[in-house]
Amino acid sequence: MNLFDVYPLNDVTIVKAEGSYVWDNKGEKYLDLYGGHAVISIGHTNAHWVKRIEEQMHKISFYSNSIKIPLQQELAYKLGRLSGKENYQLFLCNSGAEANENALKLASFYNGRKKVIAFKKGFHGRTSLAVAATDNPAIIAPVNETNNIIFLPLNDEAALANAFSENEISSVIIEGIQGVGGINIANDSFLKTIRKLCDEHNAIYIADSVQCGYGRTGKFYAHDHAGADADIYTMAKGMGNGFPVAGISISPKIHAKHFMLGTTFGGNHLACAAALAVLEEMETHQLMDNAQQVGNYLMTELKKLPHIIEVRGRGLMIGIQLPDEFARVKKQLLFTHKIFTGEAKPNVIRLLPALNITKKEADIFLAAIKNELE
Ligand SMILES: Cc1ncc(COP(=O)(O)O)c(C=O)c1O
Repeated sequence: MNLFDVYPLNDVTIVKAEGSYVWDNKGEKYLDLYGGHAVISIGHTNAHWVKRIEEQMHKISFYSNSIKIPLQQELAYKLGRLSGKENYQLFLCNSGAEANENALKLASFYNGRKKVIAFKKGFHGRTSLAVAATDNPAIIAPVNETNNIIFLPLNDEAALANAFSENEISSVIIEGIQGVGGINIANDSFLKTIRKLCDEHNAIYIADSVQCGYGRTGKFYAHDHAGADADIYTMAKGMGNGFPVAGISISPKIHAKHFMLGTTFGGNHLACAAALAVLEEMETHQLMDNAQQVGNYLMTELKKLPHIIEVRGRGLMIGIQLPDEFARVKKQLLFTHKIFTGEAKPNVIRLLPALNITKKEADIFLAAIKNELE
């Protein structure tokens, strides 16, 4: 049997990882500023995370949601505290797309409506309604097509107000910082306007924090920078540091009913142990502060370099927009300088390193990109 060939692959086989470094099968060492797409939040093979999962594995790894799993409550408590949403409710699932599916569904259960506002260049996943709310026709299959999604330009307050006046809106789904779309920040005033309009129209504000959440921008959710709470936060990627776990944090105004949401694997013992280890490391080592400090440093230094069109982002979610003639830089960072970075089309280098990256590691990258640009 062959693999279903859906991924264009770099010719690299990683066999070992530690902190912000990975090694290939030839013993070559790489600096990882990509984290397998914003997933590695507390560093590869983090010792506390390994220990927590290993210890849990010897006790029990999985049982379904038909019994009490106190680790889920422990996780909810800790997540509520660290995210500053102590009165919210947690539903656990397995991936970012699934988190968004559940959020959109919950919003529709809440107000009985169908229309969803999503944004140009937004990405919310590859399943069902999540992909329908994603602005990329190439990944929307005919069966996913729906006229329930209204796409608006990001940060266009007039278009937003107009859409609310003309439709019965169930929910607005928005990334605090668009990741796949190329590191585009939702303005604070725009997020506040979403909050206001949702309140006025009894619609649900869904903050897709799958990529930009979990401390990456220096606050727990990127949407927090606006100072307005969302009704539902969706999260995945950094939540398990590579262990598949996702969730949605739900406002107290939305009430649960038995069987309204559900999953077989979501919230299993191992996933909770991994997610708890991440939060414990974030708290012990104040990783949100580190994300902010090293992120600010990187952005300040990047802005001094020649040829860069724009540096965008917050904390450790950074986009470097390059002109066409520097399209090769990402490949050169990987193959010449042995540094993994992410990308967004066209010509945006995306930095999504672990939240405990050091200034010294940031300097290695700065020297390499400087070398390429000069
Ligand atoms: C903002 C955002 N939402 C949702 C998803 C989908 O997450 P997953 O691939 O875990 O389904 C992604 C993945 O890149 C994402 O960046």
